[in-house]
Amino acid sequence: MSWTSRRARAIPQSVFLLMDRAKQEARASGLGIIDLSLGSSDLSPPGPALQTLAEALLDRATHQYTLRSATRPFLEAASGWYEHRYGVTFDPDTEMLSLVGSQEGIGHLLLALTDPGDLVLIPEVAYPPYWGMAALAGLEVFPVPLREDLLPDLDAIPEEVARRARVLILNYPNNPTAAVADLGFFARALEFCRRHDVFLVHDNPYVDMVFDGPAPSPLALPGARDRCVEFFTLSKSYHMGGFRLAFAVGNSEAIAALETVKSALDFNQYQGILRMGITALQQPEAWVREQVAVFRERRDVLVRALQEAGWEVPLPRATLYLWARVPGEVDDVAFAVELCRRTGVALSPGQGFGPGGRGYVRIALVQPPERLEEAAARIGDFLRSSAR
Ligand SMILES: Cc1ncc(COP(=O)(O)O)c(C=O)c1O
Repeated sequence: MSWTSRRARAIPQSVFLLMDRAKQEARASGLGIIDLSLGSSDLSPPGPALQTLAEALLDRATHQYTLRSATRPFLEAASGWYEHRYGVTFDPDTEMLSLVGSQEGIGHLLLALTDPGDLVLIPEVAYPPYWGMAALAGLEVFPVPLREDLLPDLDAIPEEVARRARVLILNYPNNPTAAVADLGFFARALEFCRRHDVFLVHDNPYVDMVFDGPAPSPLALPGARDRCVEFFTLSKSYHMGGFRLAFAVGNSEAIAALETVKSALDFNQYQGILRMGITALQQPEAWVREQVAVFRERRDVLVRALQEAGWEVPLPRATLYLWARVPGEVDDVAFAVELCRRTGVALSPGQGFGPGGRGYVRIALVQPPERLEEAAARIGDFLRSSAR
């Protein structure tokens, strides 16, 4: 007799647990770990935002449960941020919701939009929790094949799958592939959704992390708010991953359904963190550009160092990640585990991101340039010793 539900058992086991074990083994054998496996920024939130939080802690008015009305100042700031960026206005009361991170928001939105047995379209390489969220909601998943340019090939979705699909999840700039979609791609995706009566969920955490220009928002397209919700987080642009703050914006019926589901499960974020989020969103654009420049430099340093170490890795246009084919015909999990055991350098095996990730690894740019060069040197030694 098992106490674990079929629902919990349906959540795919993560290959990242194997990586965790490999890290422990490397540590036990005395190797210094260079952890490039997590997409968690190593930089600090804006100083004024930390100051706002410090002051809020001592304000007793922030200590109670946060009702929706108390989230309004944050949502107004988020609405202003979106309007400034994309020239489109959303109503903070009916078309926006604050979240305890976008991960919970997307998982709960799937519960709000679907019933067990419904079909969801997820690109065959995707942010790992999407697969678990779909399992939790009892959904059938169709992994959408990727094209050469790493964008999903919507034309490859069979007609009868498209007809049954209820939700399409997209995420561009993408984790893990670093692919960037232009507005034309989003327009085609929306047209696909309109034709087949599918709801579009767009997860946009890397909206600022683009090295050569702004990332578009499908929600800014005409008519998008009829069938789209987009998620933005403060985890990446403002290094606030540990503080858990994000917001959803878009179709009012979907936002209301999400709010209903959340009302049964959690409360809103702590008011001090909401205030911190307002200060973060008010940072001058130059501050955000400086953060992006840090990751651009790291990208250049690591791609060059890996090339010198004998590994050609594509130069990404966005995000905190390199997405690289494993050298030789080696399995990605075996490669990442062995590399970590022998050198202490931890990467993420591609299979952890879905069926299309086989044969790839993701390398997160979450260490300063000197550590990245050290990682590349260790990888070079490993590749040379493996080739012998
Ligand atoms: C694509 C994607 N979505 C969502 C998240 C999680 O964001 P949050 O910290 O807001 O839950 C991440 C974090 O790495 C991500 O890469």
